[in-house]
Amino acid sequence: MREGKKVTARRLAKKKGAEPIVMVTAYDYPTALIADEARVDAILVGDSLAMVVLGLESTHGVSLGDMLHHIRAVARAKPRALVVGDMPFGSYEPSPRVAVESAIAMVRAGAEAVKLEGGSEYADRVREIVRAGVPVMGHIGLTPQRYLRLGGYKRQGKTRSDAERLLEDALALEDAGAFSIVIEFTVPEVAKAITEKVGVPTICIGSGPYCDGQVLVFHDIVGLSRNPPPFAKKYADAYNILVEAVRAYADDVRSQRFPPKP
Ligand code: KIV
Repeated sequence: MREGKKVTARRLAKKKGAEPIVMVTAYDYPTALIADEARVDAILVGDSLAMVVLGLESTHGVSLGDMLHHIRAVARAKPRALVVGDMPFGSYEPSPRVAVESAIAMVRAGAEAVKLEGGSEYADRVREIVRAGVPVMGHIGLTPQRYLRLGGYKRQGKTRSDAERLLEDALALEDAGAFSIVIEFTVPEVAKAITEKVGVPTICIGSGPYCDGQVLVFHDIVGLSRNPPPFAKKYADAYNILVEAVRAYADDVRSQRFPPKP
């Protein structure tokens, strides 16, 4: 673990108004080591692994078992950053009891908090998971697990009623005990209004700069994603760097430069 105090959900929540929060996804041991060495505050083992790691079309194909497998790999890196496990589609919707059982399984796998998608309609799940002793991060705005109902991956909060509903959702999550809230792909002014109204930190993705923190997908920022969203920023071209490395190895083997002759 890198030096400095371990980031807990409580310490992360205290950053509101003090310093911007940095969260990035990671799905395995090496990406967790990289994220932690880069000094992020939180590592999200996101269900986005469906697309960026498993090549699936949506997050619907990822099971609780899949998430536990990846949480275990990330936790083995023993990061100083908070490890947040993303509750996959189907692992909390059926009932508060199912939600608590899934959250406990994630904690046993190494998660130090869980995240679930949805607002007021799932506030009872949030309340019960928190009651069981597990910190919960909310997630509102574009909730990819609901893309069928939302009619696609569209920006949220464009109408006054939608913006008001999002604010109500955020307040309901805070009231249920969420220690922070992800706001995905909303109109920036909506994220701003929510950030000003709630007492817990907002962590935004594609919702503009007026939030307490930002989260992006690891593969998008390092240049490993096939279809990065328009709001993501690419900081490296890892895909082509890795292709070149493997090509150099292949060339070496074919020209008998590797392995060296004894
Ligand atoms: O799964 C994920 O990567 C997420 C982020 C987009 C917040 O939920």
